Amino acid sequence: MTVDKDNWLSPTWWRQAVVYQIYPRSFADANGDGIGDLQGIISRVDYLKDLGIDAVWLSPFYPSALADGGYDVDDYRDVDPHIGSIDDFDQLVSALHQRGIKLLVDIVPNHSSNRHAWFQEALASPPQSPARDRYIFRRGTGPNHDQAPSDWKAAFGGSAWEPVGDGWFYFHIFAPEQPDWNWANPEVRQDFLTTLRFWSDHGVDGFRVDVAMALAKGFDAEQPEILPSQAEMEAVPIGPDHLLYDRDEVDEIYAGWRRVFDEYQPPRVAVAELWAEPSPRKARYATEESLGQAFFFDIVHAGFNPFKVRQTIDEVLGWSRDSGSSATWVLSNHDIVRHASRFGLPDVDSDSVWAGPDRDRHWLMTGGKEPVEDRCRGLRRARALTMFLMGLPGSLYLYQGEELGLPEVTDLPDAARQDPIFFRDRGFNVGRDGCRVPLPWTATGSSFGFGSGAAHLPQPTWFGQYAVAVESDQDDSTLNLYRQALSLRGRWQGAESLEWIETGDPQLLHFRRPGGWQVAMNFADQARPLPLAGQSISLSSWPGIETAVVEGKDDLAVGHWIPAETTYWWRDSQVS
Ligand code: GLC
Ligand code: CA
Repeated sequence: MTVDKDNWLSPTWWRQAVVYQIYPRSFADANGDGIGDLQGIISRVDYLKDLGIDAVWLSPFYPSALADGGYDVDDYRDVDPHIGSIDDFDQLVSALHQRGIKLLVDIVPNHSSNRHAWFQEALASPPQSPARDRYIFRRGTGPNHDQAPSDWKAAFGGSAWEPVGDGWFYFHIFAPEQPDWNWANPEVRQDFLTTLRFWSDHGVDGFRVDVAMALAKGFDAEQPEILPSQAEMEAVPIGPDHLLYDRDEVDEIYAGWRRVFDEYQPPRVAVAELWAEPSPRKARYATEESLGQAFFFDIVHAGFNPFKVRQTIDEVLGWSRDSGSSATWVLSNHDIVRHASRFGLPDVDSDSVWAGPDRDRHWLMTGGKEPVEDRCRGLRRARALTMFLMGLPGSLYLYQGEELGLPEVTDLPDAARQDPIFFRDRGFNVGRDGCRVPLPWTATGSSFGFGSGAAHLPQPTWFGQYAVAVESDQDDSTLNLYRQALSLRGRWQGAESLEWIETGDPQLLHFRRPGGWQVAMNFADQARPLPLAGQSISLSSWPGIETAVVEGKDDLAVGHWIPAETTYWWRDSQVS
C-alpha cells in the first residue's frame, strides 16, 4: 500500500507516522511548580516540529491522585488542574495542528481511579446494587466474609482483591487505587463511547489504548462458582480461555469503538497496548474493524541480537500484513528502562528489559549488585538499532528524551520515588521512575530548563550534558542524528515493502526499500566487510565514518567496511 503522508485528511496518515510520546508531567513546566504542564508542551511545539515527527501521543493528563502516574483516572473528560485546563488542551491541539502534527491521547479503559465519581457511588451503595455493577465486586470468603475471594495477585504486588468493609471485595489488576471496570455493564460501555467522542470533538486524532487486552473478564464475580487459584489461572495461556487477558469478547467492544472512530473525517485512529509475547493474536486488535494498530513490543525483547531482531521484524511485518495494518516499532516508553541504558548492560543479548521481573532477574544474576552500565556502548548501540528500525516500513513510536540519547536514572533516592511498583514490591523492583525524570532543556539552571523551580523527580548532575540546547549545537549529537534521520526517512516512506539482502554474515543485517534506499547494520563489536564500493553513505548512526572504518584496518580501503555496532543508510547510485 502506498501512503500519502502529506495529505492532512488522508485516512492512512498513521501508517508510517513517527509518533512521539510525551509524559506530560515530565516534559516541560511552564509555571514553575515542578510539574510539567500543557502550556509547557505548547512552548515546545517548534522543537517537536524541528524534530520531524508526525504525531504526539500524550500520556494521561486527566485529574488523578497519581497513584500510578496518571493511569488512575478520576475523570476521563477533564484535565488535571496541576497540568492545565480544557482551554489549554484546545490551545495545544491547535498549536500542534498548525504545525502539521497530529495528537493521540491515552485512554485507560481497564480501570478508573478509586476517586472516580462512579466508584465513590459504588462504595456508598449496597452490595449487588446497579452502582456496584459498574465495577467487579465479589463477596469475601470465610465465615465472616473477610477473606479475599481468591489468592489472585495484582500486577503491582499484593492481592488483586480489596475489601470495602461490608464483606465484599473489589477486583483490581493493578494498584488498589485502580478498580477494574465491569465491561459487561452497558453504562460503562456507553460512557467510554461518550469519552471517545468528547476528545474527538476537541480535535484529537486518535487514542493509545491502555492494557487493551484485559477489558473482557472470563468470570462473573457475582456467581458463586469457585474461582481458580492464581497458579491454575496462570497455567492457561493468554487467549480465549484465560480469565483476564486477550479473550475473544474484547473484539466486540472495539468494534463499537470503531463505529465511533468512523464518524469522523479522517477516521480517528487507535493503537492497542498489549504486552503478551509472542502473540500472533495481536493482529486482531490491528484490523480495520478493531483498533487499527497494535504495539508489537517483541522488538524490545529481541535485545541486541541480530538473529532475534531479524526474526522479530519478519514476524511483526507478517502479523501487520495479516491484519491489514502497519507495523509498530518501539524501543522505549514510560514503562521500561531507556534503551540507551539497556544496551549498555552486560547481558544485553538476553531479553532483559531491566525492569519488572527482568530487572529482578538481573539483580539475582549479579548477586544483588546494581548492574554496571557501559554508557558509551549503550548509546552507540541504541543509535544503531534505532536507525535500523527507522528504516523499516511501519510507524515508529519514540519516547521523550530518547532523541537526546538520555540514559535511565538508576540512582534515584528512595524518598523521591513515585511508582507504585516501588512501594508495593519494596526492595525488589525499583519501578519505572528512572525513565520518567523530567527532560533537560538547558545545560545549567534550575531543573536544566525544565521549569523555573526544582523538578518533581530529581535530575542527576550529569543531565545537563544531554540537554536539548547542548545537543542542538553539536553536529554529531543524538538529537541531530534523529533530526537528520527523520527528515531523510520522510523522503522515502512510500511503498510499504522491504527486501532483505543476504549478507552471509550473521552479524550483519541489510535490506533495501523501494526507491533504492538501503539500510545495513553491523551488530558485531568489530568492523565487518560490506560491499559499498561506489556508494556514498547518506547517514551513519555513529560519527566519524572514515576513522571508524580505518581504525585498526588501515590497509583496507575506506568504503568497504562498516564499523562495529553501526547502521548505515545509503541510496543506490544508479537511482536518481
Ligand atoms: C499500562 C501503562 C502503565 C500503567 C498500567 C496500568 O501498562 O502503560 O504505565 O501502569 O497500564 O494502567
Ligand atoms: Ca507546572
